[in-house]
Amino acid sequence: MMATGVRVFLLLLWTTDTPQGAGVQVLPPVNFTLRVSALAQVLLHWEPNPAQEHNNSTIRYDVKILSPVPEEYDTRRTHSVRTAALHDGFSACVRTLLLQEDLEISSDWVEAKLPPLPGAAGTSVTNLSCVTRVTIPGNVSLRCAWLPGQGAPEDTKYFLFYRYETHTEECPTYTKDKWNRNTECRFSGTQMKPGEIDKLIVIHINGSSPRAAIKPFQQLFNQNAIEKVNIPRNISISLQQNDLLATWEKPISPFHEECFEYEFYLINLKSGNKQILRIPSNSFQVQVDVSSRYSVRIRANHNHICRAPGLWSDWSEIIYVGQNKLENSTAWILTLLCVSTSCTFLLVAMICKINHVWSKLFPPIPTPSNKFRDPFPVDYERARTCTSSTETEVGSLADGFSCSVLDDSVF
Ligand SMILES: *[C@@H]1O[C@H](CO)[C@@H](O)[C@H](O)[C@H]1NC(C)=O
Ligand SMILES: *[C@@H]1O[C@H](CO)[C@@H](O)[C@H](O)[C@H]1NC(C)=O
Ligand SMILES: *[C@@H]1O[C@H](CO)[C@@H](O)[C@H](O)[C@H]1NC(C)=O
Repeated sequence: MMATGVRVFLLLLWTTDTPQGAGVQVLPPVNFTLRVSALAQVLLHWEPNPAQEHNNSTIRYDVKILSPVPEEYDTRRTHSVRTAALHDGFSACVRTLLLQEDLEISSDWVEAKLPPLPGAAGTSVTNLSCVTRVTIPGNVSLRCAWLPGQGAPEDTKYFLFYRYETHTEECPTYTKDKWNRNTECRFSGTQMKPGEIDKLIVIHINGSSPRAAIKPFQQLFNQNAIEKVNIPRNISISLQQNDLLATWEKPISPFHEECFEYEFYLINLKSGNKQILRIPSNSFQVQVDVSSRYSVRIRANHNHICRAPGLWSDWSEIIYVGQNKLENSTAWILTLLCVSTSCTFLLVAMICKINHVWSKLFPPIPTPSNKFRDPFPVDYERARTCTSSTETEVGSLADGFSCSVLDDSVF
């Protein structure tokens, strides 16, 4: 009975001790605005509530991004910059936080919104994909491809822009589809720096058509995640006793050797066995069947150690190693048999050919006596001979020739 009373008293004491209870009011910030400050970039800005008292307490702000990608954080400042795809609009809330000793009291939220970018439904591009590549040290190229929106008229012209930090640039070189719409873009050089980690690239594609308002589309890409890694260099492969040894150099890249991993594609050309092995370093040794010929290809990617993995490089050129060796005497005997059989066939064919030429040069002379005795049965007999002889391939021409000679002589 006594213990319960004490607890109730303590609870009351704690409640009346809060600033709220002491009459401290926490008011929401004022003039909260959103402004597009660059492609896919919003500046959130608000003012402290002029009526807010803060004596010796600290004021902070809670920010909640509602769309397109939810996010929550707090800040001491009265502004904040966010990068987000804005084609479907943007909305966020902010509230005041009052911190007094170890107590934290918050105000109501205030909300602000940006409307979606204007344009007809279904006119935005779809299936956007982008790839970067490190070319000559220091240069990053960019290539993007997309599909025109299902609802975009055939005469739609699309335009692509990329933004990297504060640099915005329109695509200089487009590839078109059969309707003459841009569906691919290449930048041979960009402002991107090849060694950066987790930097964002903003892609903005808008368009125009006399028949519809084309809704712009935006997408953010992690520079590292869309980098197509270069092919490993100076690959050398050799056979030593029962082992295949391979060494190579890392691809052209500002990243160190430890930042790469490889795939090793080994095909035994005799058995047809295929193997893809994941290799964490740039040399490799594997036991092989030395009586087989092998083909080898290698490709590279970044591993997780240095940054986000990108896209696997293309496979290197095929390198062949080893010779197929016949395993036993049976194979030898079989080969010998094959060779001798083909030789015999060749000989027979040659003899036939000679015979054929012989019969052409010296056709058989017909006997005229037959003509007067009984021409019909003989003629019937000859016709039969003629058809049956053309059915056999070897010497058919020679027989046909003698046949026609016979017929001429008859009529
Ligand atoms: C809020 O905006 C209004 C109108 O623009 C302005 O008069 C007022 O001074 C602003 N309040 C603060 C605290 O900046
Ligand atoms: C485009 O993307 C959609 C949805 O992601 C997918 O279903 C479709 O196969 C893609 N089309 C092409 C041609 O890649
Ligand atoms: C496309 O966007 C760029 C960059 O914001 C802008 O300068 C251009 O006027 C837009 N073009 C169309 C047709 O909307």
